[in-house]
Amino acid sequence: MNLSGKRVLLTGGTAGIGRATALELARRGAAVTVCGRVQREPMPGIAFIRCDLREESERIALAGKVIGEGGIDVLINNAGTQEPMDFAGPVAWEVMRAEIEVNLLAPFHLTALLLPSLSGRGETAIVNVTSALAFAPKASAPVYCAAKAALRAFTLSLRGRLEGGSVHLVEVVPPLVETGMTRGRSGRKTSPERVARAIADGLEFRKNEILVGKARLLWAIHRLSPGLAAGLMKNA
Ligand SMILES: NC(=O)c1ccc[n+]([C@@H]2O[C@H](COP(=O)([O-])OP(=O)(O)OC[C@H]3O[C@@H](n4cnc5c(N)ncnc54)[C@H](OP(=O)(O)O)[C@@H]3O)[C@@H](O)[C@H]2O)c1
Repeated sequence: MNLSGKRVLLTGGTAGIGRATALELARRGAAVTVCGRVQREPMPGIAFIRCDLREESERIALAGKVIGEGGIDVLINNAGTQEPMDFAGPVAWEVMRAEIEVNLLAPFHLTALLLPSLSGRGETAIVNVTSALAFAPKASAPVYCAAKAALRAFTLSLRGRLEGGSVHLVEVVPPLVETGMTRGRSGRKTSPERVARAIADGLEFRKNEILVGKARLLWAIHRLSPGLAAGLMKNA
């Protein structure tokens, strides 16, 4: 895919992996719009739409706005949130629900809202950002891991359905990345810029799966021994 001139909607593009990816895609000539709940540092040349992805009505308004402004060629479902959750004690339903809304229902809903307008525009793509935790879950974030596993299955299923058409389904599997989400967590972290370059390269080369850094190694371990991969990540 030639990214030059492609119109991209990237959710959660105000921070972390999303912000770095928005800047990288814009550098390669794409016209990028990001959404988030608040506009943070200025991102020259990148449009911002305020949207709380937990809210169904806001997701509908977001899709309506981008379609009304001429539509998009690439949807990147990147926004995500992760809260530690311990089911050995009480777990707040509101926290759980917010995680499911942002990590899972928003990508499902935005895909349904925007897919009809993506078809028929030439080379287009839907990119879903999952996690290595989708296939090797950790014990401290069961709802997050389950949402990512479901998003992975959704991506695979949709790719099967849309195979041969113009809409390319892509899954991005980042490793542990230095962002707000992982602040305070130990372990060697990849930079968001590295993930951003991998996403842009992967789109250009029409990759189905973009496994970055240690996520690639973990996937190889998982294919040889799912139990070993799960054991390595259980207390990550
Ligand atoms: N960091 C890692 O190690 C890692 C590893 C694997 C996968 N991932 C995945 O990569 C993606 C990006 O993560 P990150 O680490 O870059 O996270 P981050 O730095 O915390 O950024 C999250 C982004 O999502 C947006 N967001 C969160 N809740 C939202 C809501 N309700 N409505 C709209 N936007 C919302 C945030 O914007 P506002 O807060 O302004 O709304 C922000 O732009 C996520 O899907 C995450 O699960 C991350």
